[in-house]
Amino acid sequence: MKVSLTVIKADIGSIGGHIIPGERLKARVRDYIEDKGTKLIHDFRISSTGDDIAILFSHSRGEGDADIHKLAWDAFKAGTELAKEMGLYGAGQDLLKDAFSGNVKGMGPAVAEMEFEERPNEPFLFFAADKTDPGAYNLPLYLGFCDPMYNSGLILSPKMASGFRFNIMDVSYTEGDRVVSLNSPEEIYDIATLLRDNERFVVEKIYSKNSGEIAVSVSTTRLHNIAGRYTGKDDPVMLVRVQGDFPAAGEVLSPYAKGHYVAGFMRGSHNGPLMPVKQNSSISFFDGPPVVSCAAYCVHEGKLTEPADAFDHPFWDYVRNNVSRKAMDIRDQGFSGPAMLGYDELEYGGIVKNMKKIDKKFKVRK
Ligand code: F6R
Ligand code: MG
Ligand code: MG
Repeated sequence: MKVSLTVIKADIGSIGGHIIPGERLKARVRDYIEDKGTKLIHDFRISSTGDDIAILFSHSRGEGDADIHKLAWDAFKAGTELAKEMGLYGAGQDLLKDAFSGNVKGMGPAVAEMEFEERPNEPFLFFAADKTDPGAYNLPLYLGFCDPMYNSGLILSPKMASGFRFNIMDVSYTEGDRVVSLNSPEEIYDIATLLRDNERFVVEKIYSKNSGEIAVSVSTTRLHNIAGRYTGKDDPVMLVRVQGDFPAAGEVLSPYAKGHYVAGFMRGSHNGPLMPVKQNSSISFFDGPPVVSCAAYCVHEGKLTEPADAFDHPFWDYVRNNVSRKAMDIRDQGFSGPAMLGYDELEYGGIVKNMKKIDKKFKVRK
């Protein structure tokens, strides 16, 4: 059967700052969908990563379905009411528009979706990151899909020998979706040329060239492009089909052992290493470090298994320790140089405002 997976995530309020939404808030979102959504969908799961709540739906209505998006929007609205009642911090933070207009894209929540003919066994990974933006997935996707140092299947499996097609979006273009399609391995230098710039170019979709099937879907929303001001980092979600024509789950996961530096962290204005964490983890040190969680599932006739928490394994404790060290290393230099983001990416206006004031005091020596 044809199945659609849709993940919609939003920060609708959290406890003690931008830390964690808490169980009561998640329960409210879950209850809403159980109450109102069962006819529309095959199955769903609720989880949190940092201060964001994600709803994963399995259904048969395709991508961008207005009813599915409305269900998520209304569930987040119901959650926001409770967040306000409880006095949670940043209640309704990511619901940037007052009225739902058919699709949550461009309204604040992050969305990743894909539709495919279900394989007899259909394993997939659901990633959610907090305190960072969609470019955080660029390097792990490049390595997991283009580099045999990470994806041994590229040389070991004939099914992957022909490589993958990347759709890459220019997220600084706000008039519409500006996208380029590039093939790996033929055009990997072009792919790398774009993906090095995490704040401008973002992987949107990846397809198997062997089967033409969809492998990856990433949320590409840039909140500061929607709201025109700081509303939180974009905290991206991603779906990745694995095994067979696609990389193995462990090949997709392997680049996350790096803890590469990404934009985000405190006030969405710093660089910090991306720490792989368990699902439902909180945020702490310097409102970070940026985190990514991964739940592995199988979907069968639309029904989802229980999640297997991919970063809940002793191996990742070692990685987390290394990433903590990398976080300390960059925090050691405070505001200096690469520790803080460049002007265009600063999510708070303070420095820009201050610069205008200081600028007037400059004098040019003759
Ligand atoms: C980063 C983030 C936090 C806040 C910081 C200040 O994405 O959400 O680091 O930027 O805690 O928050 P406000 O401005 O809400 O006091
Ligand atoms: Mg927040
Ligand atoms: Mg968040």
